[in-house]
Amino acid sequence: MKTILPSHTSSLSRLNRILSNRDFDNARFFILVDENTYNNCLAPLVSSVARLQEAEFLEVPVGEECKDLAIAQQLWETLLESGADKNTILVNLGGGCVSDLGGFVAAGYKRGIRYINIPTTLIGMVDAAIGGKTAVNMGGCKNQVGFFHQPTITCIEPSFLDTLPDEELFNGVFEMLKTFLIGNPEQYQALTDMLLSGSFEVKPDMIAACVEIKNAIVKKDPKDQDIRHILNLGHTFGHAIEAFSHRQGQALLGHGMAVGVGLICALYLSVKKLGLAAEHLERYRQVASKLVQLPHYTLKDTEEILTYMRQDKKNASGEICCVLLQDMGAPVIDIAVDENEIRDSLLKIK
Ligand code: GLY
Repeated sequence: MKTILPSHTSSLSRLNRILSNRDFDNARFFILVDENTYNNCLAPLVSSVARLQEAEFLEVPVGEECKDLAIAQQLWETLLESGADKNTILVNLGGGCVSDLGGFVAAGYKRGIRYINIPTTLIGMVDAAIGGKTAVNMGGCKNQVGFFHQPTITCIEPSFLDTLPDEELFNGVFEMLKTFLIGNPEQYQALTDMLLSGSFEVKPDMIAACVEIKNAIVKKDPKDQDIRHILNLGHTFGHAIEAFSHRQGQALLGHGMAVGVGLICALYLSVKKLGLAAEHLERYRQVASKLVQLPHYTLKDTEEILTYMRQDKKNASGEICCVLLQDMGAPVIDIAVDENEIRDSLLKIK
């Protein structure tokens, strides 16, 4: 597993060099795209990476809609009909939905072929495209069926971010904030200083720092048995807040935005239960409010959010469990929180 991190030379030109290597002599490449990456990212990729000039491409619908078993089956059938063998390499050019689906297809095809992730969104670069979690959705729930299958290469090319709307960038910024909260207080300080000063330019070295933290965690626990759970800081709340935002009349929140709001609850409970200094919660709340309109929940809303939280896959023996912080850079997993504490934290978001 190799990650091509942003540096002074273009990541695509380094990918070009790697794919010219003997290990890839017999490879046949298919590029998985959606409409956005077909229009905005395919041409720069193919013009920079010689081995991909002959690649065939496969297009799937934009967004969560593509993470569907029927679409995975169509892709497997297309690969079979094209005579794709074990030397086939699937190149996933897109955000988290494309890499989740493409990784899933690669994991299942011929019991596992190689794949390359080329994330084109910030959330893909700092989270989804790294770590080998692949999945499709089922029964209206996200990521219900999937495999751990590590990409052979993840190539992070920050220039793809130039085509993204701010809202999509902010989804990724929240995942960066989460990663720095658990793994690098100095980078957290630098990123929050930048955001508080009103600048939203995501620097390539910050992306690289984030990826290095995630890679180190995944290396320790590739199958998500224990320590990797720390990456879920803010997610027990975030998943429920995201699902609730899809209800009629609510402001729709993307995954990163919902996690960003969930982080306020997690930090609030970290202060109450683990003695995290309250100044960290206040600073984070200030930063978050620059990126997303903080929701004001009623008691009735908190009951609905709680129903989603009760279904969370990380809960043990009927208790809702969260990752919390005892200090900056010091996460603790499996902290049981009772329902009144959850209601209280949701009511105190704003
Ligand atoms: N997104 C969390 C993980 O990869 O474990």
